[in-house]
Amino acid sequence: MGVVALVPAAGRGERLGYGLPKALVPVGGVPLLVRAVRGLFEAGRVQHVVIAAPPSDVDIVNTVTAPLAPAGGAVHVLAGGAERSDSVRLALAYALREIPGTTIVLVHDAARAFTPPHVVRAVVEAVEAGRPAVVPVLPVTDTVKQVDADGVVVATPDRAALRIVQTPQGFDARVLLRAHESGLHATDDAGLVERLGVPVATVAGHQDAMKITTPFDLAVAEALLVGGQA
Ligand code: C5P
Repeated sequence: MGVVALVPAAGRGERLGYGLPKALVPVGGVPLLVRAVRGLFEAGRVQHVVIAAPPSDVDIVNTVTAPLAPAGGAVHVLAGGAERSDSVRLALAYALREIPGTTIVLVHDAARAFTPPHVVRAVVEAVEAGRPAVVPVLPVTDTVKQVDADGVVVATPDRAALRIVQTPQGFDARVLLRAHESGLHATDDAGLVERLGVPVATVAGHQDAMKITTPFDLAVAEALLVGGQA
């Protein structure tokens, strides 16, 4: 089955304070996006990657990612949209239009640059086994509170039933298309699918798949590299 990974990487990444689109910010001298795409291909289950890049950076993104594709595969770069969901929708439409045999789609944030290949494989295998939507998750170690508009606690959900969600999120391509055509809104792709009433399965995520958002996260990633753990 044809597995295509969509990588929304069109964000400006201002929280990193680097003056570069986040996808191009280097960790250990290598841009986050390059690490993320390399990890997808290293899993051995992805032949094509479609990247939604900042519109002004399509050429540079093409230059740095094209050499990463394995024989028989390719990296495709297009201009992303105004919101993350727009970028995913554009990349999905491109994959379904231009890459024959696209049946399984992964959506992977460039910011999760250190996602281990075995997590990618676990997601693909779960979709291949018949799950229409699959997300990698971690247990929650902090107690989480729900608060009202004034910041007053209204509930303490049972921590044992909560999970932190990572990427890549894997989907039957038709299900993800239906979710993006629905006009619904959610903060992640699995959230959209969930709103359609489609069950979302989970597989084990990994700490290294953390999302690099702040200068602190960047420092942690650099430290992991120095320590040889990522
Ligand atoms: O800003 P945040 O970290 O939540 O963005 C998540 C991912 O979505 C990032 O990889 C970012 O580049 C991407 N994105 C995008 N198009 C946008 C905004 C964000 O592809 N318009």
